[in-house]
Parts: sequence; structure tokens; C-alpha cells
Amino acid sequence: AADIPGELTEILVTEEQILAKLEEIGARVAADYAGKDLLLVGVLKGAVMVMADFSRVLPVTVPMDWMAVSSYGAGTKSSGVVQIRKDLDTDLHDKHVLIVEDIIDSGLTLSWLLENFESRGAASIEVFALLRKPDAAKVEVDCKYVGFDIPNEFVVGYGLDYAECYRNLRDVAVLAPHVYA
Ligand code: PRP
Ligand code: MN
Ligand code: MG
Repeated sequence: AADIPGELTEILVTEEQILAKLEEIGARVAADYAGKDLLLVGVLKGAVMVMADFSRVLPVTVPMDWMAVSSYGAGTKSSGVVQIRKDLDTDLHDKHVLIVEDIIDSGLTLSWLLENFESRGAASIEVFALLRKPDAAKVEVDCKYVGFDIPNEFVVGYGLDYAECYRNLRDVAVLAPHVYA
């Protein structure tokens, strides 16, 4: 098996910091959506870990659906072309939708997704992104709930992959450039 620590240069956000942040954002979301018909939409595959942990800090039961889109493939740069690999099962009509994402990097995925969701008749659409790279933005994304702003480096772990690996790291870490050079 690969020597995982040797392939990372730095832990950026620890599991402990993530879980504390999820509690904080969960409390905000619970208050903001009290009495509303909330639907969580996780963006596969990166958002699997954040959806699992975030949904469980909420004090109420909430439906979840998933959309699978991909723009990075096996590289470290967004192709700019977002492909739907799995669409929602849920009709968004009159739902208060909260999109749950692991990261906003260039912003292309979410801006595309927001536009795609606009026409589906939701009562409201907001975004929760655990991570955001302000210095990598190519398009601005209106994101109501942000976990951590991070530097413009290629990060993996807690759902984020490089060529489908590293998603199961507990922390978010910087991938050593020699791994993808
Ligand atoms: C990653 C990440 C976000 C998106 C962010 O997904 O999970 O969805 O890229 O990048 P952007 O802001 O530049 O669009 P990816 O396309 O790698 O698919 P995955 O979630 O299956 O890893
Ligand atoms: Mn993704
Ligand atoms: Mg990816």
C-alpha cells in the first residue's frame, strides 16, 4: 500500500476542527430552516463525508438526495466541463434546498449546479461548502455557509480525492506535488 503520510506535505484542517465546525454550522442551519421543508442535496462523490457528519449534527430528521457530477476526472485541474453522472431522485418543487459540497475551488461545479437547479421550482436554494479556495475562484458562487477558507493548494482527504484516492483520510491535507507531477 502507498505510504500515505509521505505523500502529504501538511495537514490543513483536522477531523476535530471539521466536526466542531459542523456543529456550529448545523446550529445555524437548524435555526434558519426551522419549520421549513428542507432537503439536503449532496454532491457525489466528494461530499459523502461532510454529508454523513453534517446531517447527523442536525437536531431534526431531514431528507437527503444526491447528485453525481464530475469535472476533475483523474487530474488536478477542473476540465471546466461538468458532467451529470446521476441526477436527483427528488422533485425540488417547493423544497428549501441546501446543497452540501466538500469544496469550492474554481466555483465552476457549483455555479453550473445552481443554474441547473434554478429551473426546477425550488422554494429556495443555498449552499454549504466545507472548504473554499478564495484565490482559485474563476466564477463567484453565492455560498451562505462556509466551513474554512483555505490556500490555493491541491488538497485531499475527508471526501476529496486525487484520482479517486485519499477520500478516506480523516483530515484535509495538502497533497505533495511529487505525487501528481
Ligand atoms: C471536486 C469537488 C467539487 C468540485 C470543486 O469534484 O468535490 O465538487 O471538484 O471544484 P470547482 O469549484 O473547481 O468546480 P470532482 O469533480 O473532483 O468530483 P468528485 O466529487 O467525484 O471527486
Ligand atoms: Mn465533487
Ligand atoms: Mg474529485
